[in-house]
Amino acid sequence: MIRFSQRFCSLHSRPIALTGGLRWKATTSTANASSSTQGDGTVKPFSAVPSPSGSVPIIKHQRLLKGITSMSEFTVEHFKELGPIFKLDFMGQSVVYVADPSAVEKVFRNEGKYPTRDTSEKNINWILKRRNESNFAFQSGEEWRVNRSKLGKQLIPANVYGYCPGFNKVSRRFIRNVYDVQNADGFVEDARDLIRYWSLEVATHFVYGADLDCRNDKEGLAKELQDAVGGLLDCIFDLQTALPLFKVFPTKAYKDFNKNMDKLIEIGQVYADKYSSDIEARAAVSDEKFHGMSLLEQWLIEGKLSIKDAISHSINMLGAGMDTTAHTTAFVLYSLSKHPEVQEKAYKQITSVLGDDEKPDGDSLQKMPYLGHLIKETQRLYPVAPFVPRMLDTDIDLLGYHVPAKTTIVPGLEAMGQDPTLFKDPLKFNPDRWTTDDIHPFILLPFGFGPRACWGRRFAEVEMKVLLYQLIRHFKMESDFPNDKLSSSGLVLKRPTVPIRIKFTPRNQ
Ligand code: HEM
Repeated sequence: MIRFSQRFCSLHSRPIALTGGLRWKATTSTANASSSTQGDGTVKPFSAVPSPSGSVPIIKHQRLLKGITSMSEFTVEHFKELGPIFKLDFMGQSVVYVADPSAVEKVFRNEGKYPTRDTSEKNINWILKRRNESNFAFQSGEEWRVNRSKLGKQLIPANVYGYCPGFNKVSRRFIRNVYDVQNADGFVEDARDLIRYWSLEVATHFVYGADLDCRNDKEGLAKELQDAVGGLLDCIFDLQTALPLFKVFPTKAYKDFNKNMDKLIEIGQVYADKYSSDIEARAAVSDEKFHGMSLLEQWLIEGKLSIKDAISHSINMLGAGMDTTAHTTAFVLYSLSKHPEVQEKAYKQITSVLGDDEKPDGDSLQKMPYLGHLIKETQRLYPVAPFVPRMLDTDIDLLGYHVPAKTTIVPGLEAMGQDPTLFKDPLKFNPDRWTTDDIHPFILLPFGFGPRACWGRRFAEVEMKVLLYQLIRHFKMESDFPNDKLSSSGLVLKRPTVPIRIKFTPRNQ
């Protein structure tokens, strides 16, 4: 029996993002955006940064957030009204939103050795410390760097590709689930359920080496785990944006956070016990690290982490990886189901690389770049983690305004992704634009940027590519959605708000 107290990673949260093809009122060209000054060479003071009306004494713009269900829509409206830079004031801090790629690049180029996202990291870190837990995703400075660097070896491509056999197996189970649940007309009424099973199964595969069949999970643990992750993300938004009253008395968000965290720890312990109970023995006898061995085992064999810390990190990775990957995949499958021509193009490419009986691995996936392009194109339209803020240690001039050090600066990823001056036909789903267009690298940052970027990016990309390979190879997917743009909401992560109804027709019937 392994005992531990976990940390949990659920960073993907921050105030801001937007939806809809838009162009802001106060236009700014990409060319002049790299300049921080106005035409006359002057830089305006911070107080002049456009700001919405509705600020009230003490809580300032906080009241504007009351009752909103989609930060995306909220910020879309404000970019439209105020232009490519605006600010919201909260008690004790201002947050600046920027939807211009050159300005975003400037922010990231100045993020320094220890990038910090925003003050919310400190809030969550404060709570975790009280729980006697920690998580590098919420740490800062040298503490963050040291803890993150202990987990570096698992990111090498050979290791991530080492999980392909397991990813293939889980993806085949997705296909089985499709057959199990589709109706007589071939429709799966809500593919989100199957996607959630898949994302939990792949995550527990690379984290623990587990082989779960969530749809037939008699104990109900998979559902509880998913609910706890979702619940945690929901209350993180409150803890980040509301006054830090939880430091004085236990607010509802604070209590919910602890409740969901306790649940995660409880379930994580069950998984760890079940799949890694002989870990100490394996770590003791093995001097080799095997690509594709579970993360938990690798960390223990490397010996840089205690058993307690290794298991804590395993929980963090489940928390960080499950919903992000599931929502992204939901948007990808929706987009594919609306675009048979994209499926056909992908089908042509994958069947030119592998035969019927072969399974994708590292080598073959690299010969299927179109899968990557269609994921990117989906992330442009639907950035699931639209908030990659940075709080700089130094002052910076952005789009003609002076922004003081320690201000939270949030790129408007979704606004940029749908800006008609940056993309031709921005609302059109066109994966080919990633091979042909000259696209500014700081428009699309679905996994963030720099040393603080998503730790699990390679895992997520490989998992998704294997699933897409299997589904496109096996099925034609169609949907009868009336609109092109799928409605979505979310205060933390962006997720589809309606059932994703897809017809799966086997290619060989
Ligand atoms: C499509 C799926 C995913 C998306 C869209 C996503 C997105 C992000 C973003 C935007 C960040 C913040 C980056 C920044 O501030 O520059 C982040 C951080 C992080 N992600 Fe992911 N992520 C995904 C999957 C995963 C997976 C599968 C894992 C674990 C295996 C993971 C683990 C982490 C961790 C640990 C951090 C914190 C890094 C740090 O603070 O140093 N993510 N992710």
